[in-house]
Amino acid sequence: MHRAILCIPPNLLPEKSWRILMGDLENHFGDDASLDKKDEKIILDFLVQYSAEKSTKKASFKILKSIGNKDIIAITQTTYWKKKHEDIPKSVFLNKEVKSKANCKACHSDVEKGLIENDKIKNINSFM
Ligand code: HEC
Repeated sequence: MHRAILCIPPNLLPEKSWRILMGDLENHFGDDASLDKKDEKIILDFLVQYSAEKSTKKASFKILKSIGNKDIIAITQTTYWKKKHEDIPKSVFLNKEVKSKANCKACHSDVEKGLIENDKIKNINSFM
């Protein structure tokens, strides 16, 4: 399975975004991440079941509000994400341990568990 799908918890994107994303895996952020139809369905069902609409987490609620009805499939394009990360210097995202904005795990240690809580965020001074 593709790392970008794995690294973002289902509750951080709405159902619509997951459907768009899973419907176009051949062009997944420039990579070919296509799967066979059966695996694709299993993953999509999982993502939809735990999508932002189904979550009670504050971050999910804010993301839903930020995305509205837009066809956004990258959380980093939401105003909510941009606002939360606007104070982080560009150089931090270029650090070799971070590499990209989409590498949530570099800073959010527990991201796979869907835990994006302030106390689990690494001190970004170590990336400067
Ligand atoms: C370079 C480190 C870094 C990367 C990479 C990063 N974040 Fe963050 N993120 C932070 C920091 C630091 C904060 C805290 C900002 C604040 O509250 O001042 C934060 C805050 C957040 C919050 C708000 C949490 C809250 O409780 O208010 C969410 C949600 C979040 N990040 C999601 C993500 C996701 C999803 C990704 C990957 C697509 C990501 N972040 C990538 C450093 C990072």
